[in-house]
Amino acid sequence: MDLKSGVALHEIADGGMLTGEADGENVVLVRRGGEIFAVGAECTHYHGPLADGIVAGDTIRCPWHHACFDLRTGAATAPALNPIPVWDVEQRDGRVFVTTKREIPLAAPMQTNVKSVGIVGAGVAGNAAAEMMRREGFAGGITIIGAEETVPIDRPNLSKEYLAGSAPEEWMPLRDADFYRAQNIELITGRRAMLLDATTKTLTLDDRSTRTFDAILLATGSEPVRLSPPGAGRVHVLRTLRDSRAIIADAAKGKRAVVLGASFIGLEVAASLRAREVEVTVVAPDAIPLAKTMGVEIGAFIRRLHEEHGVRFRLGTTVATFEGDRVILATGEPLLADFIVAGVGVRPNTQLAQIGGLAVDHGIIVDEFLQTSAPGIYAAGDVAHYPDRFSGKNVRVEHWVAAGRQGQTAALNILGRRTPHTAAPFFWSAHYDVTINYTGNAAGYDGVEVRGSFDDRRALVAYRSGARVTAVATIGLDRESLLIERAMEDGDQQAVDRIVASIT
Ligand SMILES: Cc1cc2nc3c(=O)[nH]c(=O)nc-3n(C[C@H](O)[C@H](O)[C@H](O)COP(=O)(O)OP(=O)(O)OC[C@H]3O[C@@H](n4cnc5c(N)ncnc54)[C@H](O)[C@@H]3O)c2cc1C
Ligand code: FES
Repeated sequence: MDLKSGVALHEIADGGMLTGEADGENVVLVRRGGEIFAVGAECTHYHGPLADGIVAGDTIRCPWHHACFDLRTGAATAPALNPIPVWDVEQRDGRVFVTTKREIPLAAPMQTNVKSVGIVGAGVAGNAAAEMMRREGFAGGITIIGAEETVPIDRPNLSKEYLAGSAPEEWMPLRDADFYRAQNIELITGRRAMLLDATTKTLTLDDRSTRTFDAILLATGSEPVRLSPPGAGRVHVLRTLRDSRAIIADAAKGKRAVVLGASFIGLEVAASLRAREVEVTVVAPDAIPLAKTMGVEIGAFIRRLHEEHGVRFRLGTTVATFEGDRVILATGEPLLADFIVAGVGVRPNTQLAQIGGLAVDHGIIVDEFLQTSAPGIYAAGDVAHYPDRFSGKNVRVEHWVAAGRQGQTAALNILGRRTPHTAAPFFWSAHYDVTINYTGNAAGYDGVEVRGSFDDRRALVAYRSGARVTAVATIGLDRESLLIERAMEDGDQQAVDRIVASIT
């Protein structure tokens, strides 16, 4: 439908959406009462169809990984980085006409006492923070110091399409080096911050140079737990592009891989290695994969799914030793392994915060504004232990979207725009053609309610603490996942219950 030729207003339900075209691009019209918005129909993260998402307040949200776009400006909230296009709209004689595509306005320079910001960690949180500061019109100095040798990368893809061989390496950078130059963001890669003086806000790098800032963001993320049995030194872990490349170098067709740990990362690695026709055995102490975090229902489904794709499991056991091309399990069983990948959890990188004397407890402790115990020093992403509004608990999550959003929120607070972190935790995990979306935080859940059908790939699992739903995992119910996220953000437990009950 050509939206420039107009469409009858009554064809768009209040609160509804209608898709069409303008200027050769797919456009979605959104009606909110008498107001109509026209925005690009594709999410700028991985091209998710926004018309299958939801409208929440003045935003439209993507069904795939919950990116959120301002209907008035197109501005993106993580995981999307780029805005969606916005068109002007006219209403005449009961019809709606999409007219001119708007230019993205340059941010007006902002006034702040902060003249320089140092960001430690070139991951998604650090990158999102730097971009948000520039988007808000901050003209001061921004320096990102990253220990990896690469620009910030699309880390989730390291265990998914990139490892499976279906995504080229060009897709991995979040931004290229030219972007940082153009934005006047100093990006120092391959350098580690070793010392933090929290009083003077001075960082000492591993080349002994020192840098002093008006504000610092610690976005140091986490790093994989490494195994200790004899011979474990040659076991792959997966956190960086270099790690993923090293696994790919070993992953020739017909090779035998042992994956240690039936975590999300371990299982995603198993799926990607199967795409390369590697023989895969997953070894884990759990009786059912993912059961501790996700419950036995999803765990059993995921195990079945992997078995259908040829993955073998050795569960309820661990590795005793690594001997040449064999892994000896605690049961005594030897497994032949051309290479081994461990996905047995991560630890937050809190060393710098500890050296700086900041409060640390399973992560860097921050308040709702993501400020640490030291004024002017903030933390975001995997490393931040923050008060979660919905569960009422202090939590630390290892989720891509949460890390990006926290980076964005920390940036606003650094610039003096007091903004609490209110987003409900969200993550996704992809296995073959099945994606699990998870919203909330189920830690300590005491009841599980399963709705829909795993066989139909349309299922929802609600995790309860007492009567409260604290988290929901969905398969094939992306819209419901979004609606539940929204209800959680609003603190509307009844709405959460209603959405859960609506799935049959
Ligand atoms: C293989 C893989 C797949 C994943 N898949 C998903 C998924 O599907 N969905 C999902 O929600 N999440 C997923 N995650 C988790 C997600 O990637 C993390 O939650 C996210 O990357 C955290 O971002 P961050 O910026 O906090 O930290 P990181 O991405 O860990 O970045 C921190 C950076 O800081 C650097 N650093 C640390 N200390 C210093 C220092 N002292 N000086 C300088 N630099 C330092 C590190 O080298 C690193 O580059 C996945 C993670 C991995 C590893
Ligand atoms: S495709 Fe839209 S959030 Fe990922």
